[in-house]
Amino acid sequence: MKYMLRILSGTVAVVGLLWSVNASAGAAQGFKFMEKQGCTACHNISGNVNAKTVGLWRKGPDLYYAGDKYNQNWIATWLQKPTRIRPSGAFYLDHTQTGVKWNTLRQDSLKPHVRLSALDAKNVAQALSELRSKDQLIEAEHYNPDITVPTALGDMMFDKVNGCLACHSIEPNYGGLSAPELYTAAARLKPEYMLSYIRDPQAWNHKTWMPTRELSEEDMQKTVNYIISLGSDKSRSMMKNAVEQSAATNYRVYCMQCHGISGKGSGINSRDMEVPPRNHSDSKYLKTRTNAELFKAIKEGGASISKSALMPPWGGTLSDAEIKGLVKHIRKLCKCGFEGSNNQQ
Ligand code: HEC
Ligand code: HEC
Ligand code: HEC
Repeated sequence: MKYMLRILSGTVAVVGLLWSVNASAGAAQGFKFMEKQGCTACHNISGNVNAKTVGLWRKGPDLYYAGDKYNQNWIATWLQKPTRIRPSGAFYLDHTQTGVKWNTLRQDSLKPHVRLSALDAKNVAQALSELRSKDQLIEAEHYNPDITVPTALGDMMFDKVNGCLACHSIEPNYGGLSAPELYTAAARLKPEYMLSYIRDPQAWNHKTWMPTRELSEEDMQKTVNYIISLGSDKSRSMMKNAVEQSAATNYRVYCMQCHGISGKGSGINSRDMEVPPRNHSDSKYLKTRTNAELFKAIKEGGASISKSALMPPWGGTLSDAEIKGLVKHIRKLCKCGFEGSNNQQ
């Protein structure tokens, strides 16, 4: 029995050994492959940076700290099916031309990335994950997944407050073009890397054109969690909630002045109005109105549905989606739907 056990544990040890040999063999294969394929013509994997040359006139992003930056699985997946992450390539000026209204990108100069087989991609991902020369920056960060921010507020921080949207996109085709898109960052990047990069971009690349902005520790955690939420289903449903939230906000900002805090038509402007603002909690009346009629009244104003012109048109201020949100909001206030005879919604 003892003997059997010894054989067994021996086997386990050998399997374990083979496994780790296998893993490092994979990495070795990966490094060999990169050398042979000329990946280093575009990517710095050695970490030797010539301080005298302008480090940014590069053909591909630095990979010498790839193990500190990327999720290994993402590298393996992406290399088999590369998509564009930097809308304007590794360095935007290489792909920028003057245009009529503003500078545009020369799509012809933005070449697709070389594609790897599953095995090569796996080996390369393993090799790159061993490059960890900036471990100390990662170890200094303490990512906290619980310091979150509602999407609408996160949008505001990212856009109006801190100006990040000027360079980064938060969804395909929305945002700046000179920096990596961030809607896939959750799968791509380690959260500690994002924290560190936002805290001190120059520590990662002394010539980067990402400015350093002093954010509080809390705002940094919130921003990273906001970026992480961009790609997930959870964030999409949060965004849906945000539309509803913004309906409530829109109602406060635009409608309460006349329709009142409780929606009953008694806003501060209502005193001298010949036709009183509609009571939005009046289900008896609102049951007789279709959603299409309410939508039209809000978008084009009272006069468009033969009602008072004291109800202004909001089509110039609010998007159709926002107006739909307001119709829903009014349905909540009256706790009613259309109950007419013509079967319209
Ligand atoms: C002609 C130059 C060029 C060559 C050769 C090249 N790459 Fe790239 N690589 C790029 C550019 C440019 C990007 C950025 C793509 C983007 O942002 O859309 C990139 C991105 C990457 C990324 C993702 C990193 C990131 O942050 O976007 C990995 C990983 C990578 N390359 C690995 C490789 C490997 C492995 C090879 C060799 C098999 C290779 N590259 C060959 C130019 C090159
Ligand atoms: C003036 C343009 C600019 C602004 C503004 C800007 N960034 Fe960046 N950002 C960059 C560039 C350039 C990079 C790195 C590009 C590279 O490595 O290829 C970067 C990288 C990042 C990264 C790492 C992404 C990656 O794929 O490596 C994060 C996260 C980030 N920025 C967040 C922010 C946040 C948060 C703000 C606002 C506080 C912000 N950025 C403002 C240009 C900008
Ligand atoms: C300047 C005052 C004023 C503001 C601001 C205002 N309304 Fe009105 N609203 C009115 C008045 C007055 C009526 C009644 C019109 C009538 O019955 O002839 C009305 C009626 C309505 C009706 C009923 C239409 C119908 O079918 O009878 C809806 C729906 C409505 N408003 C929605 C809104 C929304 C949503 C906002 C904010 C985006 C808004 N209103 C902002 C004055 C205002």
